[in-house]
Amino acid sequence: MCGIVGYAGRREAEPILVGGLRRLEYRGYDSAGLVTVTGPGAAHLRKRSGRLAALVEHLRDRPAPGCLGISHTRWATHGPATDANAHPHLSACGRVAVVHNGVIENYDALKRHLIADGVAFHSDTDTEVIAHLVGRNFDGDLLEAVRRTLPLLKGTYGLAVVSPDDPDTVVGARLGSPLVLGVGAGEHFLASDPGALVGYTQDVVYLQDHQVCRITADDWDIFDRELSKVTASVHQIEWAEEDTDKGGFEHHMLKEIHEQPETLESAMRGRLSDAEASAHFGGLNVDPQQLRRAKRIILTACGTSYHAAQVGEYLIEEFAQIPVEVEYASEFRYRNPPIDHDTVVIAISQSGETADTLAAVRESKRKGHLTLAVCNVVGSSIARESDGGIYLHAGPEIGVASTKAFTSQVLTLAMLALHLGRLRHLSALQGARMIAEMRALPDLIRRTLACDADARRVAEKYAGCTSFLYLGRQYLYPVALEGALKLKEISYAHAEGYPAAEMKHGPIALIDPNTPSVFLALKGAIHEKAMSNLEEVKARRGPVIAVATAGDEVVAAKADDVLFVPDVPDYLQPLVAVVPLQLLAYHVARIRGCDVDKPRNLAKSVTVE
Ligand code: AGP
Repeated sequence: MCGIVGYAGRREAEPILVGGLRRLEYRGYDSAGLVTVTGPGAAHLRKRSGRLAALVEHLRDRPAPGCLGISHTRWATHGPATDANAHPHLSACGRVAVVHNGVIENYDALKRHLIADGVAFHSDTDTEVIAHLVGRNFDGDLLEAVRRTLPLLKGTYGLAVVSPDDPDTVVGARLGSPLVLGVGAGEHFLASDPGALVGYTQDVVYLQDHQVCRITADDWDIFDRELSKVTASVHQIEWAEEDTDKGGFEHHMLKEIHEQPETLESAMRGRLSDAEASAHFGGLNVDPQQLRRAKRIILTACGTSYHAAQVGEYLIEEFAQIPVEVEYASEFRYRNPPIDHDTVVIAISQSGETADTLAAVRESKRKGHLTLAVCNVVGSSIARESDGGIYLHAGPEIGVASTKAFTSQVLTLAMLALHLGRLRHLSALQGARMIAEMRALPDLIRRTLACDADARRVAEKYAGCTSFLYLGRQYLYPVALEGALKLKEISYAHAEGYPAAEMKHGPIALIDPNTPSVFLALKGAIHEKAMSNLEEVKARRGPVIAVATAGDEVVAAKADDVLFVPDVPDYLQPLVAVVPLQLLAYHVARIRGCDVDKPRNLAKSVTVE
């Protein structure tokens, strides 16, 4: 999912266009490019395949002058990571340049039509089609040219367009992919997400679908698809510049793992009420009666957020006694399951922009279900389009591999389970005990982070292994899935998570001395059962890396390596148990020389289907 930036002002545009890309690079890093405009016929196009650093290097030799321009960092959807496929793309006449985030689904038909009309293409991208079409519709008024072109496009876009023949204007448009407009004094900005504008402005306008915008140095406007002006509200960005740097850590991921005690504190801030022995959420925006009537809850999400939803299923069923189903958003949006009106659908998304989850929200709303969201990014599409929701307040998560968002999602779902439970049968005593146990978490996570050195030692021992199994039961089963995902996405080692007891029904065949099993064997309701599963692996001479409760000598005696965590109640174990798995994956990836923050083929926010 690409990142785009636009600028119109009185400062040199190049450093701002590059600075914005630096903050968006987690969205895609296959290639980068920009174009600035200095007057009629003067467009300065610079682009390079590979990381942003390659473009910066190129700009050192050939700076791009001018106080207006657009830039792009790419996650390839159409065509490999080459200079030719890098954005911006120019129209045949060279008078229009476009950067785009999204997918034009009918680009092939449009391309064949343009080729039949004699247009020569220079890239494999869907985006180049947009440039040629805007170029054909351009008669000096860029806004009008974009308006005429958009109805021809099928698919999703967040795009920005400039022309040397309309040199004071940047035009943007949004359908499906996020786009924000930044309001400054004598300068204005466009960006795929507000994080790119931190340090330039705190004032942003979120474009809705089918809206078009125009920025100049002194002005900004939002229009609907007929170019009638739309009144839009300006929001304040919550984050500060220092929130997006590494804070002295080697990687954003390691910083974010170590931020978890604070992010859990901010997830709870102002939400736990001793008086009511319950949790409250200012933005839930739902009449308690409607929640009391809820007969079923559907949690829908993707990736790590899906694993948090799986923990949420255990939490809500245990503490609120409401049946819960967990759905992959990409399946849910097309599966069309029978849902009655007393069902509440809750979407979970760190970025709030994941296309499949956004589509699941729209599908649920189309069917008239109460649709709530748990998001981290304030003002994101999923948050704005849901009936109500809960923000994580975890701050920006820059590392592509999600860590602090996962623990904040799980804690938020635990607080939601408390809220729902107290609306039903959960006693004030039970509520008060849960509140006390949750409040103890930040310190418990601080103690858990002490296993970092052990995690590094274990990583050094197994970094050469090519296949890992992750095993857990009950609340720890989704954590096993999450641990496996973390290792896969940043170290590229194959890893699978399984319910520990499921092993003997097949996966145990994979066990051999080179396939380590990461075993979540914390003390709890079914510890003995988990221990017999651990014995089954040991019996087949499989190496066992156990995550165990501090002081559990039984596990220490059985496992080859142990990472200890503090003792917590079963329902909160996912929060402590995931930390050593995050650290293990981090160190294995670092030892293997992988780019931890920008793993290959991935992007932080998946805004295309
Ligand atoms: C997790 O580490 C990955 N980055 C990915 O699986 C992610 O969780 C998924 O794309 C969902 O993202 P979201 O929470 O922003 O919707």
